Amino acid sequence: MNMNFSKKIVIIGGGNIGMSIARGLVHSSEFSPEHIVITRKTSDLPKNLHEEGFTYTDDNISAVEQSQIIIVAVLPQLAYSIFKEISSVVTAKHSLISIVTGVSITEIEECIHESICIARAMPNTAIKIRESMTCIASNNKNCPEFTDIINLFDMLGETLVIDESLISSATALGSCGIAFFLRSIRAASQGGTQIGFHAEDAQLIAAQTAKGAAELLLQLSSHPEDEIDKVTTPHGITIAGLNEMEHNGFSSAFIKGIVESYTQAIKKNK
Ligand SMILES: NC(=O)c1ccc[n+]([C@@H]2O[C@H](COP(=O)([O-])OP(=O)(O)OC[C@H]3O[C@@H](n4cnc5c(N)ncnc54)[C@H](OP(=O)(O)O)[C@@H]3O)[C@@H](O)[C@H]2O)c1
Repeated sequence: MNMNFSKKIVIIGGGNIGMSIARGLVHSSEFSPEHIVITRKTSDLPKNLHEEGFTYTDDNISAVEQSQIIIVAVLPQLAYSIFKEISSVVTAKHSLISIVTGVSITEIEECIHESICIARAMPNTAIKIRESMTCIASNNKNCPEFTDIINLFDMLGETLVIDESLISSATALGSCGIAFFLRSIRAASQGGTQIGFHAEDAQLIAAQTAKGAAELLLQLSSHPEDEIDKVTTPHGITIAGLNEMEHNGFSSAFIKGIVESYTQAIKKNK
């Protein structure tokens, strides 16, 4: 166990993203389930959730009292009542990370009276397998607790510290982005099935090819077009397929989709 993370964590809101964070932390081997308390609206949970070894409760107050790091992952419409509910038991020992879309750090500070390190994190669901892209903004990037917060998300994938003004952009590109890339892999495997592969083989080829493409950029820090140039030969079959996709608006559709998600995120984020 890393000494920095002898701290106990409460995840308020053990839904999709809250549970993904909890499972990712345990898979990092830096945390055992006993270090994580998960709160939900209902304490009446399916048996398989209890079997994972986490502590579940519907008592946010006592869970916060037992912890040092608070992660809030509830739906936006519940966020204010949660922040106000826990405010009376938040002390200087705590730091708080909000995953909630659409609630600014200033608005959180208005609810939480103690002056503590507050961060907004925008991960994606690959956090479950420790492959998230997480963008993080904070009210105090120099406080030691913020370093702990970055270290924590570093265990769960890549992290990038951003200004809060970029949180809507992070939502569109990183959080929504996982769906865009999943859809592109699905489209590739549908094409693969049409040209002869069984669905599961087509998906394996498409997913591993997408993973390889991403790793080329991440490991070699190369530019996508440089890597594309290496596989496009004169009169070749790759350039024929690529240009056909572009004639049908591939890049344009992707860019427009990201901008549309950003536009929607702007309406919800502040
Ligand atoms: N999903 C993503 O990829 C993603 C990415 C980035 C940010 N976010 C943000 O993360 C937040 C959560 O999203 P989600 O998809 O995980 O939602 P979700 O699956 O609906 O989870 C919300 C959880 O909050 C719990 N909850 C409700 N009231 C509560 C209360 N009073 N005290 C404690 N827990 C309570 C619910 O409990 P029950 O299960 O008992 O109803 C549920 O487990 C949202 O603000 C979303 O915008 C999500």
